Amino acid sequence: MRLLFCGDLVGRSGRDVVREHLPRLRQELALDFVIVNGENAAGGFGITERICAELYAAGVDAITTGNHVWDQRETMGFINRDPRLLRPQNFPAGTPGRGVGLFQTARGRKVMVMNVMGRLFMDPLDDPFAAVERELSIHRLAGTADAVVIDVHAEATSEKMAMGHFADGRASLVVGTHTHVPTADSQILPKGTAYQTDAGMCGDYDSVIGMEKAVPVARFTRKMPTERMAPAQGPATLCAVFVETDDKTGLARQVAPLRVAGRLIPHWPIELAD
Ligand SMILES: [Fe+2]
Ligand SMILES: [Fe+2]
Repeated sequence: MRLLFCGDLVGRSGRDVVREHLPRLRQELALDFVIVNGENAAGGFGITERICAELYAAGVDAITTGNHVWDQRETMGFINRDPRLLRPQNFPAGTPGRGVGLFQTARGRKVMVMNVMGRLFMDPLDDPFAAVERELSIHRLAGTADAVVIDVHAEATSEKMAMGHFADGRASLVVGTHTHVPTADSQILPKGTAYQTDAGMCGDYDSVIGMEKAVPVARFTRKMPTERMAPAQGPATLCAVFVETDDKTGLARQVAPLRVAGRLIPHWPIELAD
């Protein structure tokens, strides 16, 4: 199976790059399933029902989020009726929505997607490792799921790497989000799980992690209140991680970063070049 995981989509330019390129990518890469982290899709803060519908129409199958999930108040109202929109699973019991989804591809394969949030340099939350352990004991690769994808929404690279090894051999892909900068460490871990510490973002890289740069620079240089941050509006780069899984085991056969458009040096998943 071929999966694409697109990093945090930031604002209008992030939405535009996904809408423009995803239909073609779905075809050219023969993708079976596409996941996008949508926590910054609405003006950089949260996501709306209308944006979810736009993303599904563009070829997105499931949307993960993170600490910004509730930035748009409407999300608490509609998340329970949209099973394709996930929030971190380790939020407190009783939080609206869900952090895990079991989805079926057009060819009838089952993809389990899980969203958890890290605890280092982030708000206190339940243990993300325990949350992953619980779900992996229910949904096993080559059992109830043909592929398992875990989005670890976290600040610290160490916490994300630890999650990669924790789930190694039990997930198809463990991928980090939240820092908005793609890391150069995509690899298949020793027991067969594809891994990349951060997928990067779908957004304008002439920015500070997707935000128009003047305001964040001012916040770092002057101890004074500033205007509200807004997404940078220039052309976006679509940053994603491409994975091909083995149909029998559900483990990774190939993993590679994908980068198209905007300012970052393009990268096409290597095995498709020949
Ligand atoms: Fe983000
Ligand atoms: Fe985040």
